[in-house]
Amino acid sequence: MNALFPARLRLGVNIDHVATIRNARGGAHPDPVRAAQIVAAVGGDGITAHLREDRRHIRDEDLARIQASTSLPLNLEMAATDEMLEIALRHKPHAACIVPERREERTTEGGLDAAGQHNRLAPIVQRLTDAGIRVSLFIAPEMRQLDAAIRLGAPVVEFHTGEYAHAEGEQRAVELKRLADMAALAARNGIEPHAGHGLTYDNVQPVAAIPQIAELNIGHYLIGEAVFVGLENAVRRMRELMDAARG
Ligand code: PXP
Repeated sequence: MNALFPARLRLGVNIDHVATIRNARGGAHPDPVRAAQIVAAVGGDGITAHLREDRRHIRDEDLARIQASTSLPLNLEMAATDEMLEIALRHKPHAACIVPERREERTTEGGLDAAGQHNRLAPIVQRLTDAGIRVSLFIAPEMRQLDAAIRLGAPVVEFHTGEYAHAEGEQRAVELKRLADMAALAARNGIEPHAGHGLTYDNVQPVAAIPQIAELNIGHYLIGEAVFVGLENAVRRMRELMDAARG
């Protein structure tokens, strides 16, 4: 396989919002573990889960249950805090994606300021790496942030596709080019580019067609679609669209 152009684009499914629905009633249903098992059964490539500081969806005990219930790699999204570092080191997920986190936000609204937070991030990246956890930094597709990720020695960056997903008209092409340029630059610097946030059936294909991008992480739309068509069908449809775009 050519490292610059991975043949198969991986799909990581973010199952946080299964837990959001569960937590709305305080019980055990629907169980994000069952969602993880379905994702595995229909050929998803990974499970992504964000343990937020306020535990609004995924809870600590879910992590071990997800890890025990499927052989798919777990990508733990985490804020750069001592508490989350300690949890990641305890659970040893396949990957840890460091995301910015503000308590009042509804979702991860922007990329991590890797450039402005070098000193805070460097020891966290190092400790995760030393533990054998593949570190990813969730950054905007900007030169300054990619430079910072290179300086931090992160093997992976996940580009925040929110600006692209929300752009309208000609601006969408501008945002797509930004993603494509930054993905190419990341790959040239030996960093594996991933992408995610706000991706849907309607907007996934141009991002999936960027040849250097190795993985997409998609959550809210898939879980929303699952309400209507079931999670199996939603994941299968997304997979088909990704494969078609990749040619
Ligand atoms: N990747 C990261 C790092 C995220 O934080 C999220 C959730 O905000 C996603 C991907 C998935 O985004 P969405 O739920 O909009 O598909």
